[in-house]
This record gives sequence, structure tokens and C-alpha cells, in this order.
Amino acid sequence: MENLDEIQNRISTAIEQAIDLGALEALRVVALGKKGEVSLVLRTLGAMSPEQRQEFGPKLNALKTELNAAIVRRRGTLEAEALEQRLAEEKIDVSLPTQPIAMGSIHPVSQVFAEAEAIFADMGFAVATGPDIETDFYNFTALNFPPKHPARQMHDTFFFAPDANGERKVLRTHTSPVQIRTLQAVVEQAKRDGKELEPVRIIAPGRTYRCDSDQTHTPMFHQIEGLVIDQTTHMGHLKGCLQDFISAFFETQVKARFRPHHFPFTEPSAEMDIGYERVGNEIRVGQGDSWMEILGCGMVHPNVLRSVGIDPDVYQGFAFGVGVDRLAMLKYGIPDLREFFAADQRWVQHYGFSPISQPNLATGLSS
Ligand code: DAH
Repeated sequence: MENLDEIQNRISTAIEQAIDLGALEALRVVALGKKGEVSLVLRTLGAMSPEQRQEFGPKLNALKTELNAAIVRRRGTLEAEALEQRLAEEKIDVSLPTQPIAMGSIHPVSQVFAEAEAIFADMGFAVATGPDIETDFYNFTALNFPPKHPARQMHDTFFFAPDANGERKVLRTHTSPVQIRTLQAVVEQAKRDGKELEPVRIIAPGRTYRCDSDQTHTPMFHQIEGLVIDQTTHMGHLKGCLQDFISAFFETQVKARFRPHHFPFTEPSAEMDIGYERVGNEIRVGQGDSWMEILGCGMVHPNVLRSVGIDPDVYQGFAFGVGVDRLAMLKYGIPDLREFFAADQRWVQHYGFSPISQPNLATGLSS
């Protein structure tokens, strides 16, 4: 049966020339599928004489096996070619520069908060917070501001309209009310546990408000309050703690002095000055012959302790309050305070800090 050779040559050639996997599959159906050419010839076996069947049966089967094998081979080749082509097309040039990632900047005030928190955390302080809208009690009375005392006016307070009870809430003029809230919580805790007071060692970073606006004052500004209360802390600890903080913050040995002052909530009270020198337009903090006031501090007034039910004959400690915006201006050479709040993106890009290397409680300032 020459016919078989002809079929084999023709189909083998077509298989070799199939240009892709789709074409190859179509060919397989036409040649070997149920109604394909080879199957049709196989069906004619039934009508043959036994001798003919003996002769053609094996030949036909061999043809089928051969064509199937040719298809498998061709499929392998086509698949390998397709893979090669994909690899070539999808080649990645690892030397290409990456797309720049647009990243925001950390505002200098946030940066200074993070730095100060890291330093005080090292010294064993926890962070406490309180509300921006305060009552007269927390902002003034409990802090030993006598009623109608001129110190209340000194603070240029933003008052809210009186509520139904005639009470006028205020935007807190300092972070000191967090002292009262923290002490109240500790007193409550001690009552619940039936134990004596836990020692207090907190800082309270936050926003503060005064009706004041010029080159060095803005209606909103930032402070960090500090408070330590236990049975033994004295003024020497206060001085050491603040001296250490200021040197760690400015990352240099800073000369400091404590000047007597007055605050209603501390006795004795002091202001801390740091040494600096002016070189051209630049202020260099550390040494030098000039002094700059940097924070207020003192030993917590007995009346403050009494206002939360703590016995001042047993407990004592110190407090301090520092202006954060001032710290940021000094450390990072930022000339105008008002720019802090202008929300100018270019300014934040220029004076801001990378979000991926923030100081934190675990790594301190060095990260
Ligand atoms: N509260 C004061 C202010 O806003 C700052 C201050 C001074 C806080 C002395 C203190 C302190 O805790 O002891 O001006």
C-alpha cells in the first residue's frame, strides 16, 4: 500500500513545518483524531481479508505510532522556542535606575518630639498625654494659680464661650495640666490597689495655645512637660536630668545655668539658660559667653500635690516645661518660627527629615 508512505511523508512534513502549538494541534486532529485521515484508513481494516489485515495492520499501527512521536517531538521544539522568545522579550535590565519614590518629610517639630522622647525614654520616662481643650481647674487652679491672679492674664488665654454651667473651657496655655491628670490617675490607681503611690516619671509632649503672634510667638506652639514625683527626688536630680537632656539633644556638651524665677506651680522655681555664641548669622549652642533662656522648672509646689490629694510631707519631686519650637529652631538653624505653621511643602522638604531614619525608643538618637 504506497498510499501509506504517501500519508506518512505528507503528514510528517506538515508536522515539521507547523509554525506554532495551535497549528500543530489542528494538524493532530486532522491526522490522528477520531475522524482523522489515519483513523479512517484504520477503519478499512475491518473490510479486508485476514491476509491483508495481517499485512497492513502492523504497518498502520506503526504509522500511527510514528506520527504521534513526531508530534510530541515537534511540540517539544515549539515549546522550547516559545520559552526562548519569552525570555528574550521579558529580559530585565537590572542596571536601570529605579523609579524615584516620592516620600514625604517629617516636620522639624515632629522630629524634635521624637528625639526628646528617645532621650527621656533612656532616662526612664514614659509619655503621657492630655486634651488640648482644658477646664480652668486643670489649666490654672490645680496648678496653684490663685483666682484672679495676674498670672492667669499673663498667659493670654483663648477662652471658649461659657457652657450651661457658666464654665469657660480654655485651649490649654501650657502642657502643665497633664501633670494634674497624671497625678490624679496615679492616686486613683493606688486607691484601687490599696498600695502606696507608684513613682511618677513622665514627659507630656503636646500642643499649646496663647493669643499671641509675632516673629517669635505663634497662637499655637509646642511644649514638653516633665514630671517626677517620689519620696526622694530633689533639686540636684532636676539639674542633672535637664543638663543631661540638653547635652544629649544638642549632641554636644552644653554649658547651663539655673536662674531663680517664679512659677505658681513650683517652689523653688528656676529658668535654665544655656551657653551659646553667635558666629555671623549662626547661633552655636554649647559654649560661648552668651546665655539664652531655654526652659522653666522647679520643685513641685506643695499646693499642687495637695490639689490631687498627695501628702507633700511624704512625696516630692520636680517639673519642667520646655518650648519645642525653640529647640527645633536652635538645633536645626531655622530662622522664622511662623514658617513652622505655614504648611509650605517646599519648606518642609527643605527643613524636614527622612521618615525612614527616625529616632525611636529602641535606637535612641543615633538611628
Ligand atoms: N508651664 C510653664 C509655661 O508654659 C512652663 C513650666 C515652667 C513648666 C516650670 C513647668 C515648670 O513644669 O516647672 O510657661
